[in-house]
Amino acid sequence: MIRANHGCTHFIVGRDHAGPGKNSNSEDFMVPDAQELFRSSTKTKSALRWWISSTWSMCGKGPVFTRQRSARAIRFWIFRAGTAPPSARGLEIPEWFSFPEVVRELRRTSPPRSNQGFTVFFTGLSGSGKSTIANALMVKLMEMGGRPVTLLDGDVVRKHLSSELGFSKEHRDINIRRIGYVASEITKNGGIAICAPIAPYTATRRSVREMVESFGAFVEVHVATSLEECERRDRKGLYKLAREGKIKEFTGISDPYEAPTAAELVVDTEGTEVDYCAQQVLLKLESMGLIAA
Ligand code: ADX
Repeated sequence: MIRANHGCTHFIVGRDHAGPGKNSNSEDFMVPDAQELFRSSTKTKSALRWWISSTWSMCGKGPVFTRQRSARAIRFWIFRAGTAPPSARGLEIPEWFSFPEVVRELRRTSPPRSNQGFTVFFTGLSGSGKSTIANALMVKLMEMGGRPVTLLDGDVVRKHLSSELGFSKEHRDINIRRIGYVASEITKNGGIAICAPIAPYTATRRSVREMVESFGAFVEVHVATSLEECERRDRKGLYKLAREGKIKEFTGISDPYEAPTAAELVVDTEGTEVDYCAQQVLLKLESMGLIAA
């Protein structure tokens, strides 16, 4: 009635319209539900043109919509759609579902996930194999084509973007935030950013995640090669210098590394081929809908 008094002429009554959810006994708080209340109120019905909406679902893979009332259909809809509009899942939207102009806008603003930008962020100790896996991943993604791929490798960034910085916590954070900013711009513009710094601090990685996630997916990959193995390999000879005290604040020796606890993927390079690690990342991207299966 309030809506009618405000000048509304049509009113769609949803399945659980304005329902506050369940009570402490897990029972629906609104009993009878909004649709039933509406049906039983002649006053409301005479004031407005109304429509009791049932659940609409997109079925299967094809461009087919069905209208069903069953709880199964409702679950199906939630499972398939989540909050992403159908256009974001690359599905055809039939003309009766929405106006063509609206569909065009939705397609423009929410392209399918496999056309959106994203960031893969490798983190791990020096010598853990981040750069090697990142390079192999880059080659595979470039072979697939479609989106431009940019590699922001720790050493390269330090040379070109952060040459004035050292390895104090403050400087490492500035370095990682710069990488995060560039990755978020790449992601925003529909590209793929692959980052491979040590990034030893959880809070800094989280803020990079937040920066990127405003524009697309952020996939954190922990390259979990143990310190013992990194030191045994000591490809750049830096662990030896760190042990001798010739390099200060060296990650893992005289500086902390906070291992991620909720990375999208953990890979271990000990006894594993680089190509296999890159393949694991690709499978993860595929399962997230970021690259085509
Ligand atoms: S981060 O901590 O800011 O993420 P970043 O990945 O850019 O580090 O640089 C790490 C690389 O710098 C290492 O692979 C190593 O070659 C070199 N390096 C020089 N000094 C240090 C140090 N004190 N700690 C860690 N890496 C160092």
